[in-house]
Amino acid sequence: MSEPDPVLDAMRRHRSVRDFKQGEPVPETDTERAVEAAQCAATSSWIQAYHLLEVTDAQERSALASLAGGQRQVEEAGAFFVVSGDTRRHRLLAERHGQPYVNSAELFVLATVDASLFAQNLTLAFESMGYGTCYIGGIRNDLAAVDRLLELPGGVYPLFGLCVGVPASDPGTRPRMPARTVWSRDRYPGDEEVLAQVDAFDETAAAYYAARGAPGRDWSGGIWRKFARPLRPELRDFFHSKGASFE
Ligand SMILES: Cc1cc2nc3c(=O)[nH]c(=O)nc-3n(C[C@H](O)[C@H](O)[C@H](O)COP(=O)(O)O)c2cc1C
Repeated sequence: MSEPDPVLDAMRRHRSVRDFKQGEPVPETDTERAVEAAQCAATSSWIQAYHLLEVTDAQERSALASLAGGQRQVEEAGAFFVVSGDTRRHRLLAERHGQPYVNSAELFVLATVDASLFAQNLTLAFESMGYGTCYIGGIRNDLAAVDRLLELPGGVYPLFGLCVGVPASDPGTRPRMPARTVWSRDRYPGDEEVLAQVDAFDETAAAYYAARGAPGRDWSGGIWRKFARPLRPELRDFFHSKGASFE
């Protein structure tokens, strides 16, 4: 069980890459190989509720980079994809059979979970093939504009982007909290223990930041500042406008 394992090694090598070699596209055959492997992820009740849109048009890539807050890697990566939860094909089937399509919050959760499992398998597949990757949640800065640009139909919920390409440099891995912090047995730990675990991780994070020229930063400060204001409050209405139900 403790033998070296190439899959686990690939997982542990993960780091988000934001600096890609220019003019090195991802060949279609590589994408097909990665997508086919990624589709083997488990999927709730076999519903396969996701869609991957590869954006190849340079002007569209440039517009998406701006919408994502000026993230250059969206334009410069060898390939850029938008991952969506996809309930459309299910609804079309119901319509074709003249049957009701009963929407609910559960259907949005199913599609979001399915799409995320697929996307992480895809990321790992590309990384295993030697590519670097970077998820782009920044497209949710203005999902309505992304949606208009890509002309996504109703029932297809864009969630995040994914850059894939040949890394131009290696940013190194970022530490994670100890396994025992995110994993407990039988009961969730008490609040005091949770906060003590965070304090311990802050020391790791501070050392990580200091080694990268940002002394005085830690993990917890970034977290409480991030959640001190509403994040993208318009998303609920956007997803609703695309056909999602939160009932
Ligand atoms: C759904 C999702 C969205 C993300 N969005 C962005 C993004 O817009 N821009 C970016 O540079 N990194 C983005 N990231 C990457 C995270 O910042 C990164 O995974 C995290 O800081 C840990 O670093 P690591 O991936 O190098 O281990 C995103 C990650 C996830 C899972």
